[in-house]
Amino acid sequence: MRRKIVAGNWKMNKSFAEAEDLLNELYDALEEQTPSNVDVVVCPPSIYFEMAVDFSETGIISVGAQDVSKYENGAYTGEISAQMLSGMQVEYCIVGHSERRKYHSETDAEIAQKTDVLLKHDITPIVCCGEILSEREKNIHFEVVKKQISDALFHLDPLDFAKIIIAYEPVWAIGTGHTATPEQAQEMHAFIRKTIEEKFGKEIAKKLPILYGGSCNAKNAKDLFSQADVDGGLIGGASLVAQDFVTIANAF
Ligand code: PGA
Repeated sequence: MRRKIVAGNWKMNKSFAEAEDLLNELYDALEEQTPSNVDVVVCPPSIYFEMAVDFSETGIISVGAQDVSKYENGAYTGEISAQMLSGMQVEYCIVGHSERRKYHSETDAEIAQKTDVLLKHDITPIVCCGEILSEREKNIHFEVVKKQISDALFHLDPLDFAKIIIAYEPVWAIGTGHTATPEQAQEMHAFIRKTIEEKFGKEIAKKLPILYGGSCNAKNAKDLFSQADVDGGLIGGASLVAQDFVTIANAF
């Protein structure tokens, strides 16, 4: 059976006091409704890692970062390295989110470098891919996603590839309320798995967790997670409301 994962991407939200409240609420709600066999990950802004890691010591949640520097260390003002994340007990890191591709011009080559530094420091990369609306309308979404994945990940050796998680996030669904239908999600997830099988073989493809992201919420998570190749979610807006996030983590 594949690992199931629900990760909350807080993005640049919550004041210090609000972050503390949300973590407390999450802790209470998860204690009451603990999902079984699901890795629950919270990805707050980096300034809140210490606070989140304190909660993660309860064993109920793990902490993830939203980004990492592609460099090991050095004169890169404002950046945070994989080694620093690892020292803070951050276990996961989102890479190649569409907001970073769009607002920070992040390329697949940089996503490849970030994946490498994370793996080197034993942090699990959650590598995002997904087409924009015009690409879906032109019916080129499969080739767009295949290129993103191959450019960012096909340089890995199979042992390293086996440590990563992929998140399919159609950009037109992120923060818009226009969730992909369960069928659209399943179709792309199955395609991604087939693409991985062709490159890395059946065993590795079978074990790869593929998360869906894009307006996944407490109402639609069950239908999405019931699809054969959907192994969980990368949750934005709904991860900012403790009860919604916990409902999603229990939606398998
Ligand atoms: P959303 O964001 O759930 O608010 O659509 C998902 C994401 O960007 O990871």
